[in-house]
Amino acid sequence: MIRFILNNKLIETFDKSGITLLDFIRDKNQLKGTKIGCREGDCGACTILVGTLKNDTVNYKSITSCISPLGNANGKHIVTVEGINLEKELNVAQQVMADNFATQCGFCTPGFVVSMTGFALQNKENSNTCTDAISGNICRCTGYKSIEKAVNVLEKKLLTIDETDQVAVLIKEEFLPNYFKTIPERLKQLTFAPWLNVSGGNFVANGTDLYVRHADVLSQQNVNLVGDVASLKGITITDTICKIGASVTVTEILKNEDLIEVFPKLKDFLKLVSSEQIRNMGTIGGNFVNASPIGDMSIFFLALNSTLHIIKESERQIPYQEFYKDYKKYDLREGELIAAISFEIPDTNTKFNFEKVSKRTHLDIASVNSACKITLENELITAASFSVGGVAAVPKFLSKTNAFLKGKKLSAENIKEAEKVLQTEITPISDVRGTNIYKRLLARQLFFAHFVELYPDRIELGELI
Ligand SMILES: Cc1cc2nc3c(=O)[nH]c(=O)nc-3n(C[C@H](O)[C@H](O)[C@H](O)COP(=O)(O)OP(=O)(O)OC[C@H]3O[C@@H](n4cnc5c(N)ncnc54)[C@H](O)[C@@H]3O)c2cc1C
Ligand code: FES
Ligand code: FES
Repeated sequence: MIRFILNNKLIETFDKSGITLLDFIRDKNQLKGTKIGCREGDCGACTILVGTLKNDTVNYKSITSCISPLGNANGKHIVTVEGINLEKELNVAQQVMADNFATQCGFCTPGFVVSMTGFALQNKENSNTCTDAISGNICRCTGYKSIEKAVNVLEKKLLTIDETDQVAVLIKEEFLPNYFKTIPERLKQLTFAPWLNVSGGNFVANGTDLYVRHADVLSQQNVNLVGDVASLKGITITDTICKIGASVTVTEILKNEDLIEVFPKLKDFLKLVSSEQIRNMGTIGGNFVNASPIGDMSIFFLALNSTLHIIKESERQIPYQEFYKDYKKYDLREGELIAAISFEIPDTNTKFNFEKVSKRTHLDIASVNSACKITLENELITAASFSVGGVAAVPKFLSKTNAFLKGKKLSAENIKEAEKVLQTEITPISDVRGTNIYKRLLARQLFFAHFVELYPDRIELGELI
């Protein structure tokens, strides 16, 4: 049985765990405020909040319910736009939208209002802006200016409130209805099975790849959910090694203070990945096994010379660079699960960078993306590790280019020579994201960009092009 709280109501259901939360909410519970737009995680019309109990507080995040399996709601608080209504008046998010004429046909409005409420519920320490929080919401009518005004007003209101007890304050300030204060205690009382383990069938982490392609089939099934399995979560960092569980989401990485210390520009890098809602769901294990040649997290971790930890009865470890064999073919045997990825913490001589070019800055997959890790000692490159996506059948680790650079002086001349080697390693094809010629050009530009970004005092763009 799946048990959770939907708005203010306890849900106990034997429905298939693979049905989408969107269909469960709209069809089984007649809550029609959550809209159906694209059913692909792209438009944000179906945005809901998911609250997870941690210690005594509930952490809320926004997700797109159209590509989320019902089973992942187990033990949580699911909030739809109806669940943030106050008894009589509009709540603050609804009121600022109305005051700023930020709604026309109104179809997108519930999604925006829920995302804005999700933002209000986040801790202020998080450097997100409310504009980031609505990055996964699309409006076809307003042209966004009025929505921008509305979120700015909301943000200003939030700056003035004390956040010692965020939920209590948000209730007092009319962002949230009263019943929210009862949720932590009610979730504590809820008994539920954390992993709906069904023999056979594929693993589903948080579904952002699988449900775009197979929602119809998965909706008919009880699915093997691994997104909440405790042993696949968690980020641990020792002096030399970092290990990240396969079910850790992009948002969890982006907000991890220890990782930000290791990669000071982590937030800038990862804000280029999808949208707030999708980052809140998408796991690294899902990104690796989806095996898209342009998977952002794949490219990121390839350049770190990472090790994959794979489990079944026992654990085996392989270099991540050896995981991909051909287009969507990889070294994972029947029933095996990726448990984690680990990598050496870059030392003080080592720098890391990530670059991505896509048609839209946000909520778009890359045309070409690239990451690199370079160790420089006494002007010599003692180790180089570059990866590039969108230019081969697999996320590409540039072994020849890396070997070429090793032991070379850091100079414009050597970088230009290395780029020639890079071009021999890639085999881009023309598709909707660009022609093969364009992608070769992008691979070159991103390769150069890494050096200019990491060593601005030594390498100038003008010397390279
Ligand atoms: C609107 C939208 C925008 C997106 N934008 C981007 C983007 O900018 N960049 C990007 O890289 N991706 C993007 N994606 C793709 C997707 O969000 C990521 O690939 C995400 O990381 C997948 O994780 P998941 O948990 O949702 O995977 P799922 O869909 O649950 O699973 C994907 C695959 O991985 C397998 N799997 C999951 N976990 C494990 C495990 N532990 N062991 C073995 N197999 C496992 C599943 O069986 C499945 O085959 C986008 C998706 C959407 C819908
Ligand atoms: S319906 Fe468009 S994101 Fe869900
Ligand atoms: S108001 Fe019509 S889509 Fe946004």
